[in-house]
Amino acid sequence: MRMQSLATLEATNRGSHLRPDFQREHSNGADTSTEESQLLSSTSGRGAGDTSGLKRYLVVFIHRHMEFRLPELEAVAVLVLGCGNLVVEPRRSTDRPWSPFWYVWLPSDDAARAIAARTLLVRIILEVWAEGADWPELEAGLERARGEKRRWLEDGRSMRIVVESLLRSMPLAEQVEWIERLGFMGFQGPFSLSSPEVTYRLIVTERAQADNVPEVAEPRVYFGRQVAASNRRVISNYALAQRAYIGPTSMNTEVAFIMCNLAQVRRSSLVYDPFVGTGSLLLAAASMGAVTLGADIDVRVVRDGKRGDEGQVLDNWSNFRMYDLPTPAGLLRADAHRPPFRDDLCEVVDAVVTDPPYGVRAGGRKGRSRPQADVVDRATHIAALEPYSFGECARDLLDTSARLLRTGGHLAFFMPAATGVYDERDVPAHPVLAVVANCEQVLSSRYSRRLITLQKVRAYDAAEAAAFHKSQGPPSSGCDGIHLHVFAQADGAPIPKPKYRSKQF
Ligand SMILES: C[S@@+](CC[C@H](N)C(=O)[O-])C[C@H]1O[C@@H](n2cnc3c(N)ncnc32)[C@H](O)[C@@H]1O
Repeated sequence: MRMQSLATLEATNRGSHLRPDFQREHSNGADTSTEESQLLSSTSGRGAGDTSGLKRYLVVFIHRHMEFRLPELEAVAVLVLGCGNLVVEPRRSTDRPWSPFWYVWLPSDDAARAIAARTLLVRIILEVWAEGADWPELEAGLERARGEKRRWLEDGRSMRIVVESLLRSMPLAEQVEWIERLGFMGFQGPFSLSSPEVTYRLIVTERAQADNVPEVAEPRVYFGRQVAASNRRVISNYALAQRAYIGPTSMNTEVAFIMCNLAQVRRSSLVYDPFVGTGSLLLAAASMGAVTLGADIDVRVVRDGKRGDEGQVLDNWSNFRMYDLPTPAGLLRADAHRPPFRDDLCEVVDAVVTDPPYGVRAGGRKGRSRPQADVVDRATHIAALEPYSFGECARDLLDTSARLLRTGGHLAFFMPAATGVYDERDVPAHPVLAVVANCEQVLSSRYSRRLITLQKVRAYDAAEAAAFHKSQGPPSSGCDGIHLHVFAQADGAPIPKPKYRSKQF
């Protein structure tokens, strides 16, 4: 009976398990907390695949941004634990890349909590007590685990059991049935639904009922102690809908935070966005404790902003103030094709996180070279612009990043892609930047974009870069004509590209 009432109440309590300390960890940069040194000491210097001294945990991902999930987890593990070789099972080569269930090896519950606090796509982390293809197999596993887990069962901590299915909303009666089956475990703690000290979870995965639902995980039942749960509160805290200054291409908040995680932004990192627009990526970086620097060719976004209903100025600076974040170290009016940095300025930036114009909604522009042009007043002069293809833009972005990044630093940026247009060979390359992750985000039936994360692996060498670019020929990319593909009518004739450059900035 006690179990039954628990299930009834639990069904109304989904999603309430939020960690109050997440915001603090996020804004202070979880990677530099006091616990970091403890977490670090148990993982650094470990060989690949070495799990000695580590515990096995089940990571259950949120079922979205599928390709971003493992790379985000691995990047955050490096950030939080200082280890470069998170052991993940099953390996990516398995035939279910979209499975939300992945086992990882971590030093402690604290490490699991630090990871869940920082990632956007980890939903929960469990210490699995048993799993099986069906109830008899699970029951046998739990029977074996019971002795070892006695301290959790008998020490009187308040608890709740959450029962859920991966693919469907489970009827209450079925939840109750599962919970009653678990009665043999002998849980002693008082039940608390609102603030339990321990949450147990039973997760059921089944065969998809509908034909069009892909199989993402094999049918299985997991039971375990919840060690950590994500807190995605940053998504509502920094929601675009409430932000005073946004534009048509402002980056979605969730993706902005994921990009900063992939780029391993940490407290005191210097983060540069050369296509800053309305600054969504720098806001995410600043919330993680980074020092930020932005640039854009459009003087309106870096200097002017716009007027609010009461005549107040709304701009990048007011956005930072609105969130009580340190304002950028600088916002430069600069053309990415002619970066304003000295040639010998190298190894100064920890991460470049950016969303360049890629010609689907926002076409790039670069300054038109007119050496003889008379500039009457530099303060009001607006340079003539000309089209900037994605291929050229990507070459400039990678070369500038390769110079400015410190060795080991990351560049995370989006490139456009579409079935029939994307070819892996189009992923921009540079001799000192190595691909860490290449994740697709499907945007429509016609096109998608790919989040590319590169790491600087050695010092920039101008001669080597020049020779590499020469060998590649004029900058171009298979993605250069992507808007023709995206906006092509069924008969193949392109429809006009929508005019995106609004007056909203
Ligand atoms: C996709 S938007 C970036 C949006 C931004 N992430 C945000 O959250 O608002 C691309 C930006 O690149 C800028 N841009 C286009 N060509 C550029 C160039 N040659 N140099 C620097 N910025 C450029 C545009 O003005 C635009 O603000």
